[in-house]
This record gives sequence, C-alpha cells and structure tokens, in this order.
Amino acid sequence: MLNVNRADPRAARLSMHNGNELKIGFFGANCSSARTATVAPERWLASWPDCRKLAVIADDAGIDFLLPIGRWKGYGGPSDFHGSTLETMTWACGLLGATKRITVFGTVHAPLFHPLIAAKQMVTADQIGEGRFGLNIVAGWNEGEFEMFGVEQRPHDERYDFAQEWVDVVSRAWSDEEQFDFDGRYFKLQAVRAKPKPFGGTRPLIMNAGHSGAGQAFAMRNCDAFFTSTGDARLAAAGTAQQVSDEKLIEATARKVADIKADGARIGRAIEVYTQGQVICRPSQKEAEDYHHYANVEQADWAAVERMLELRGVTPDKTPPAEYAAKRMQQAVSGIGGNPYVGSPDTVAEQLANLSRGGVRGIAVSFVNYLNDAPYFCAEVLPRLAKMGLRG
Ligand SMILES: Cc1cc2nc3c(=O)[nH]c(=O)nc-3n(C[C@H](O)[C@H](O)[C@H](O)COP(=O)(O)O)c2cc1C
Repeated sequence: MLNVNRADPRAARLSMHNGNELKIGFFGANCSSARTATVAPERWLASWPDCRKLAVIADDAGIDFLLPIGRWKGYGGPSDFHGSTLETMTWACGLLGATKRITVFGTVHAPLFHPLIAAKQMVTADQIGEGRFGLNIVAGWNEGEFEMFGVEQRPHDERYDFAQEWVDVVSRAWSDEEQFDFDGRYFKLQAVRAKPKPFGGTRPLIMNAGHSGAGQAFAMRNCDAFFTSTGDARLAAAGTAQQVSDEKLIEATARKVADIKADGARIGRAIEVYTQGQVICRPSQKEAEDYHHYANVEQADWAAVERMLELRGVTPDKTPPAEYAAKRMQQAVSGIGGNPYVGSPDTVAEQLANLSRGGVRGIAVSFVNYLNDAPYFCAEVLPRLAKMGLRG
C-alpha cells in the first residue's frame, strides 16, 4: 500500500488537481497511428517534433494531461500499426521540459523495469516537470512484447501480486527513509538509498487500467485514477449494441462509477474514474461521421485490427462468422477501445458532458492526426464545456 504523504501543498498548481470537473487528456500520441488502426495517409506518425508541437498546443489550451501508450512491439499490417513508438518515460521528460502546466504520464510495464531504476527515472521526470509527472502502471498485456524481452509472463492474477510488490518498493524509494531493506517474495533488496525524492514532498499521481478482478483490486489499493471503458455501459444500458438514450447511458455510467468508487471506499480509498475514446469533431455532424467512416472503416488496417483481436483470443476459427465480423467492425470503429465521440462541436461537447453527468472524472482522447484535429477540438469543444461549468 502506498505510504507517501498525499497532502500536497501545491495541489492547485498541478494540472490533475485543478478545479476542472471534467479532466481532458490526449492519449497515445507517442505511437504511430495512435489509437486508430488506419492506412489513411494523414495518419499520425508520432515523430518527436510533432509530439513536442502537440504538447505545447495542449499546454497552452488548458488540456490537463498527456497519456502515452507503453508499446514495445507493433501489431504489423500494411500501416505497421504501433510499429514506431517513442519510449514513454523519456518522452515524458522531453515534454515536461517543453511545457509549463500540463501533467505528463509515463507508462511502465512493471515486469520489464527494476522498481529502483523506474523510481529514479520517475523522480527525475517529476523534478524536470516540478511535480507534473504521473505514472500509468501496466502489470502485463501483449504476450509477444514479453517474449521479445525474453521475460516469461506470470499467470494472470500473479502479475498483480508482482506489481503490488513493485509499487511497494517504488513507494518506499519515494518516501522519506534514509536507507531501507526490502524482503519480499519477488524483491530482496538490501540497504537501499534513493535520493532525491519526488518534487515538493509529494508523489506522482498513479493510474492503472486493469480490467480483470485482480486488476481492478490492484487499482483500488494503489491508484488515484482508474481507467475503464464506458462503452460497455452503453451496451449494458441497451442490452444490445443499438443507440441508447442519453438518460440510459448516464444512468449506466453512473452505476458503473458508483460501483468502482464503492469498491475503493471499502478499503478507505477515494478513487477517480476515467475513460478513453477517439474524437472526430468537424463543423457538421455529417462531415464528422463521414470522416470517421473513412478513417476507421474504409481505410482500416484490417490486418492490424485482426491481430489485436487475435491477441485477445478472438480468431475466425474459434468465433462464429457473424460474431467475428461484428467484433472486427467494433474494434475498427472504436479506435482500439473506448467509445468513439464523433460529431459537431455541440454533439461532442454534449457526449463528454454526459460522461461527467455519470460521475466520470476525465477522459483521455485520441485523434487520427493530433496536429490536424486537436486545435479545432480545443477551440470549439473546450469553450462549450466551460460554458456548461465543467471546465475553467
Ligand atoms: C486507458 C488505458 C491505458 C492503457 N495503457 C496501456 C499501455 O500503455 N500499455 C499496455 O501494454 N497496456 C495498457 N493498457 C492495458 C491495461 O493496463 C490492462 O493490461 C488491460 O486493460 C487488461 O487488464 P487486466 O490486466 O486486468 O486483464 C491500457 C488500458 C487502458 C484502458
């Protein structure tokens, strides 16, 4: 369990602790094609100069956070989806140096980094950003990535036991001990010294997106922010994949958020719920929908889409044809998970407001091409959310 002082005298200065009722972050900009498996020629290439430009735009526009994807191995396909990725911790350091107020996360696969090395990298990032670094901890995900490192994946739930010890080590390295020993199941460490500590006597915000029972329990114990999909809330509300009314969707989201918060409260933790999605915003609804269809479906990188499904055990030989076709389409349309938020500025603002009405604290959004699409989103959607009282 984390034992670092949570009282934060500079809370108001940190972007993730600001007064915005609905936090908004940009998600996945460190990966080629970001979160849309598309061969569209304008797709995101994730070059460093583009990432840097985007971070400055986001910082100036009042966006709350940047969340990278920790990805070591691409999915292939004609676009080589996620074939080119910038490492997240070093990416965060560069962007924290280039910005003034935004929180920048690093995503760490616990089994791939020794916790003392990671703890020091994160402290360094946090010092560069003067308290603006955040940690997204991943316990394990795509098998092929671990094979690439020659690291064998533990059985699923045990990954979170390991991650717990990993966080405990990091937590002690970040807190005010001169020297400590750690005698765990996975780590036996002697006479550990770790200085400096995170910036300003506090610690980086921690998030996780575990989906399973073990993953969610881990997040409840250790994290400030839990990322989950509200897409299934939409389906659960309808009982089918059809469009449901806003009221039903808000109700279903509210139920899901309340359940998660209650889980946290049972162990004395106040946890905030976040979600993720792809945004396509254009002056008219039709333009937005047309572009969504073009980028995500007409120009889909189907080989990459199928590879993502395969990694989750969904293959044509094990899945009835109609079900497989539906899952393949759902995967392409959603922009690798989460809901698509597609429409005019009014529609997108309303959809995001509905999340907030359901108790969601924030959303990490992605675009087909951030430099083409984010400025319009910032200019048109953010002021609408401000008018609704959801953002400053
Ligand atoms: C918002 C969000 C961000 C995530 N970031 C990453 C990531 O950067 N790298 C990664 O390998 N997995 C990432 N994941 C996957 C989760 O960490 C987790 O492994 C997955 O949801 C499966 O959950 P489980 O471990 O409880 O089975 C992310 C998931 C979500 C929803």
